[in-house]
Amino acid sequence: IKKIAVLTSGGDAPGMNAAIRAVVRTSNYFGLECYGIREGFNGLIDGNITKMGPRSVSNIINLGGTILRSARSEDFRTEEGRKKAFEQCQSNGIDALVCIGGDGTFTGAKIFNEEFGIQTIGVPGTIDNDIFGTDTTIGYDTALNTAMDAIDKIRDTATSHNRIFFVEVMGRDAGFIALNSGIATGAVDILIPEQKDSMEELFDTFDKAAKRGKNSSVVVVAEGEKLGNVYDLSEQTKKKYPNYDIRIAVLGHIQRGGSPSCADRVLASRLGYGAVTGLMEGRNNVMAGMRSNKLVFTPIEEAIKKHNTINKDLLKISEILAL
Ligand code: F6P
Repeated sequence: IKKIAVLTSGGDAPGMNAAIRAVVRTSNYFGLECYGIREGFNGLIDGNITKMGPRSVSNIINLGGTILRSARSEDFRTEEGRKKAFEQCQSNGIDALVCIGGDGTFTGAKIFNEEFGIQTIGVPGTIDNDIFGTDTTIGYDTALNTAMDAIDKIRDTATSHNRIFFVEVMGRDAGFIALNSGIATGAVDILIPEQKDSMEELFDTFDKAAKRGKNSSVVVVAEGEKLGNVYDLSEQTKKKYPNYDIRIAVLGHIQRGGSPSCADRVLASRLGYGAVTGLMEGRNNVMAGMRSNKLVFTPIEEAIKKHNTINKDLLKISEILAL
């Protein structure tokens, strides 16, 4: 390979810039040309592609978001869109792609690779941590710390006012952020899609908390929780306990922003480096991940299809320590 192009796609995640920097600088180190594609697969379709050198990624390792911008491309879902993208690869002489993103990004990358054969490697960048083949994804650690800081603040005011707070954290289909930020902030209960929850169990927790003299409580709820969203949960709780003073906080997109943590910067640097060296070794249609502190490559198909499981010990610990 001679020319590598890098893009970020799907929901942005803190540390994506550190990954872009690593891809560009590693390419440069090994004498490969590197191109940046702007706005995800849309930029590939539209030819929004610029040459990048070591200086185009100066001072970005500490920046949140992605300097290449991101998009969830509808056009890339169509055969016509992908054909245009391939034509752009051909006219720009791009022979390998590094796609930084989550499962949507990888699905697109895999289809494109299978249709047109452009050598492709994925780098897991999503705050959700829902990608198989890596212990953690880029952005997850930062998002956890952002959620933890926010919930700590909510706890202050919950305590002052003897209130119950339902706090929604991100995680469309996964409870990693909820479980870990919930443990770190001493949440009385944590509701995640991977576990079957019931209102009765939640009420039981409230009753136990009251018996043990707790005057305030924070319940951390993953966005993808099946029992209901924070509004439904709050309404049902109010019906059962009319005297409870209940409030809701939806942390939302603040969890996606901010300067990446040290762990995310290091992870992104290692995976960006791993993606380029992986391509040079001829790896294709795989994702670079970090497992037990080692660089590993997982077929993209597996990374999308399989799921990292929630640690059941953590769930148990959260229950024991909450009350
Ligand atoms: O996949 C990352 C994520 O932040 C999810 O946790 C969340 O459900 C989703 O993206 C939000 O997407 P958008 O920014 O398009 O609203």
